[in-house]
Amino acid sequence: MKRILIVGIGAGDPDHLTLQAVKAIAATQVFFILDKGAVKHDLTDLRQRLIEEHGRQPYRIVEAEDPERDRTTPAYAGAVEAWRNRRAAIYERMIADELADGQTGAFLVWGDPGLYDSTLAIVEEVLAAGRVDFSYEVIPGITSISALTATHRASLTRVGRPVQVTTGRRLAAEGPPADDVLVMLDAHCSFAGLGPEWRIYWGAYLGTPDEIRVEGPVPEVEDEIRRVRAEARERKGWIMDTYLLRRV
Ligand SMILES: C[S@@+](CC[C@H](N)C(=O)[O-])C[C@H]1O[C@@H](n2cnc3c(N)ncnc32)[C@H](O)[C@@H]1O
Repeated sequence: MKRILIVGIGAGDPDHLTLQAVKAIAATQVFFILDKGAVKHDLTDLRQRLIEEHGRQPYRIVEAEDPERDRTTPAYAGAVEAWRNRRAAIYERMIADELADGQTGAFLVWGDPGLYDSTLAIVEEVLAAGRVDFSYEVIPGITSISALTATHRASLTRVGRPVQVTTGRRLAAEGPPADDVLVMLDAHCSFAGLGPEWRIYWGAYLGTPDEIRVEGPVPEVEDEIRRVRAEARERKGWIMDTYLLRRV
């Protein structure tokens, strides 16, 4: 039987790696890495570094080109589905051809594999297709949410209150769905225009040497966030940011 580990590696700081993840990396013979091209090279570099630090020889790294998602179509769900299918075909080929029976292979997943990440769904899809057989386990990781609240020294939750996790796309379309909202995957500063009753805890490149954070009532800090976000994106070629919105 082949064994696959889906390992959460934290949100950018190599020290986010848990001891469980360190042991999982040490137990792996084949690492599967999907390269997202030049812009996202920094993310691949972190994975390489973690493997060099914690991998146990002999291991192999198998790389494949990550298929591009069609970002031009308004049919978001359909585009994601098509992209997942193409990724599933790549995963299936890598597991079938590059991992021998009795070996352990690993996917190192940004943050935690259970938070806005498609690896689990893709692996399930590969298993369901029935052409390759393996067992798989998930190792939790520190999320960008934990990294955000920690750097702001803020609590994600208020006493006895719920928090909603959502995307920038939904926030833009529907407005804040709760009094405490954690927003991810926002390419357009969808918080802009909210009133002074909304406080934002914003962070980009969390856990990395480029980390930036801004906090305050939305109307007071929205221009600053837009400016630093645009500058950083221009300088590095990519950006990942997350924020907590809290109605006070
Ligand atoms: C595809 S999701 C992956 C989330 C990841 N699985 C996690 O546990 O954080 C990517 C989004 O996560 C957030 N994100 C991930 N890493 C981040 C970081 N280091 N700093 C800020 N936001 C981050 C951003 O909102 C980004 O758009």
